[in-house]
Parts: sequence; C-alpha cells; structure tokens
Amino acid sequence: MGVLGSKWAPAGPPGLKGRRVLTLGASLTALADGPLAGADVLDGALDQLDDLAAGAFDLVLIDADGWEAAALGVAVKALAAAKAPPPVLMVGESLPAGLVRNLLRLEHADILEAPYSPEQVLAAMQGLLAAAQATPAGPASESRCWAVSGAVGGSGATTLAVEIAHALSTRRGKGRVALVDLNFADGAAAAYFGVAPAMRLAEFGASAERIDQAMLQAFATPVSDRLDLLAHPRDANAFETASREAVLRVLEVACETYEWVILDVPRHRRSWTLDALAGADEVLVISELTVPALLAARAFSDEIEDALGAALKPRIVLNRLASRMFGPAPSMAEAERALQRKSAAGISSDWEAAAASANLGGPIAQHRPKSKIVKDVQVLVEMLAAESLRRDGARAA
Ligand SMILES: Nc1ncnc2c1ncn2[C@@H]1O[C@H](COP(=O)(O)OP(=O)(O)O)[C@@H](O)[C@H]1O
Ligand SMILES: [Mg+2]
Repeated sequence: MGVLGSKWAPAGPPGLKGRRVLTLGASLTALADGPLAGADVLDGALDQLDDLAAGAFDLVLIDADGWEAAALGVAVKALAAAKAPPPVLMVGESLPAGLVRNLLRLEHADILEAPYSPEQVLAAMQGLLAAAQATPAGPASESRCWAVSGAVGGSGATTLAVEIAHALSTRRGKGRVALVDLNFADGAAAAYFGVAPAMRLAEFGASAERIDQAMLQAFATPVSDRLDLLAHPRDANAFETASREAVLRVLEVACETYEWVILDVPRHRRSWTLDALAGADEVLVISELTVPALLAARAFSDEIEDALGAALKPRIVLNRLASRMFGPAPSMAEAERALQRKSAAGISSDWEAAAASANLGGPIAQHRPKSKIVKDVQVLVEMLAAESLRRDGARAA
C-alpha cells in the first residue's frame, strides 16, 4: 500500500473488546464480566453528557432507572445536540415517552426494556457499534477517492472526471467533493469548469509537510458550494518542479478535507502515480470502442494490476458509445474479449452536449441535463457508491 493506504485500513470487528464505554447507572457495573467484558469502561455521572468531547467514547450505556427522568431527558437532549455523539443504549424498567423521544434525536440509539438478558445487551451494543461504524462520523473516515485515467489521449477522462465530481456534489447528503487535476503541465479540468486554477506546488520542494488544510483551501478553486477544483496553472515544467512528497501530501490532506476526492490522473507514469492509485478506492480506465483504445486500456489495466497486486482492480469505462457506429467497430462482446475483462460501465456519445458544455464552461449536467451522458454517469456513480458501501459493510462484519 502506498502513502495513502493507511487511511483506508480496515476497521476491526464490532465486538466490545477495547471499546470505550461510558456507563451511567450503578446497576450497570454488574455487566462488567458479561456483555462489557474486554471493553474499556468508565462508570460516570449524568452531567458528563453535557459536554462530551467528540470521539471520547464509542458507546454510552444508560440505566434509565438510575436517574430522575427529567434530568436524564435534559442530559440526553444535550448529547443529541453535540457534534458526532456516540451511540447510546438505554436500558430500564421505566422509559417515559418524553425520554424516549429525546433519545431518538440521536442518530444511533437503542432501547432495551427490563427484564433483559446479558446476551440481549451485548447484541444491542454490537448492533449500535456496527451501525455507527457504517456511517462514519467525520469527513476523514468517510473520504472516498476515485482515480480516473484515459487509456489513450482524448478518450474522455477529463470530461468524465468533471461529470463524476459534479454528480457527487449534487447527490443527496452534504459531502463535499474535490476534483484534483494531476495533469500539472497541461490540465484541462479548469477550462472544462470555466474557472481559474490556483494550485502551486513548485515551492514545496522538501517541505511537503507545510501543506495543511488551510494551504489546501488557498489552492482550491470553488466551483460550487460543494465542489472545489484543485488544479495547477499551465506550466511546462510543473511535473519536474512538483515533488512526489508534495503531490502525495496534497492528496492526503484532500482526503482529510473532502468526503469525495476525484483524481484526473495523467496517462504517463510519474514518480507518484502508483502511490496515488494505491491510495484510491477505485481506478477507472476510460476507453473508447476502437481497437487501439481497447488494446491500450487492456495494457494500462495490466500494468496497474501488476504493480499494485490484486487489491485494486481497475474498472474499464467505455466512453462515447454511439447508437450508430461509423465504419466497422467492435461489438461489446468483441471489446470485452480484447480487454480480457468486462467493462464496468458504458457512457453514451453526445458530441453536441460535450462540446457545448466545454465551450460554455461547466459540467454537461448543468448545460445539457437531458443528455444521455448525464444519466450514464449517474448510473456509474451510484454503482460505485453502492459498491463502496458494500465493502465497508464487509469490513465491519
Ligand atoms: N461521451 C462523450 N460524447 C461525446 N464527446 C465526448 C464524450 N466524452 C468526451 N467527449 C469529448 O472528447 C474530447 C476529449 O475529451 P477529454 O475529456 O478532454 O479527454 P481526455 O481527458 O481523456 O484526453 C472532448 O472534446 C470531449 O468533449
Ligand atoms: Mg484530460
């Protein structure tokens, strides 16, 4: 794994071992050798819920019978208003409706009515931990990086990177998106968006660690309220002057800052290319349905697989699929035979929409929302997003 790999280290199983649990209620100490065995337990008081630091505990276990209902209600309400509160399991005999209502303000909460068995307590705690893990609290843990590269020049890598980033930024949810154009010498993403690039990496020769979130904000060009572009002004020497450390540091900080990071990766390999790809969750190789492009896509994917091992299989996206081909063109089956792999998705051809949007500056989804390209990109984005959720689930299980 490359420099970026650590960020995506698989999370442990949702057992209680090593989990920091705040218990509220004297009766709960009886669970120490049962459901709480192995957990790092702190027996606390109600007022601790008032200003619980984010991430201080993995779980809060409350015995409602141990506290006066009104005071408990207020404390739970305060917790629900906190930033990234831990999941809460409340047990007890008397669970007044007002208290339960406050509890349900929390994203992850469960109730267990007495009498309950130790097994039920354990199962409820594990369920909450698993659910909390599946929806990570902050952007850092939630960050996804998808790399896009073209098998041959002009295959549509930049066009699709722009559309994918835009589609993610208009998706439900609040996650912010960065498109990082790694074509430092002659990147086109800024022109496709119709904005000015602002990232200067040359000055960070040996001091890449100086690049932090504030610096990244200075490098970023806002495209919309949820989408930033990180792109280098045209500079023939930029590949030589931008150090490997600086490039990887930008990617690392971008992943800490944004929920989605889309990379427009140049075809020709640089000293940082494999590290950048190794840190990505998906690598998309964009090809057209022509024999030279398919052969190049196959060779390019083979190279990536050879270098990075089986952990990361590039996905091939066939771009500019036309309903009517001009002259002899490979069929889909022939294409997949040439590729020696299945293609992950197809994107329709729509020259008018692509050219008009590029000329106006802005994504196709904005200027030609009815274009088939837009729908096809949406299908691709939802497929990849579902795939990453599934992977998270498999990790958490
Ligand atoms: N699905 C598509 N339909 C029609 N034209 C497209 C499509 N995708 C890309 N293009 C056009 O192909 C050309 C090359 O695209 P570009 O994204 O710059 O390729 P790359 O980044 O791979 O070199 C551009 O003129 C672009 O508008
Ligand atoms: Mg390009």
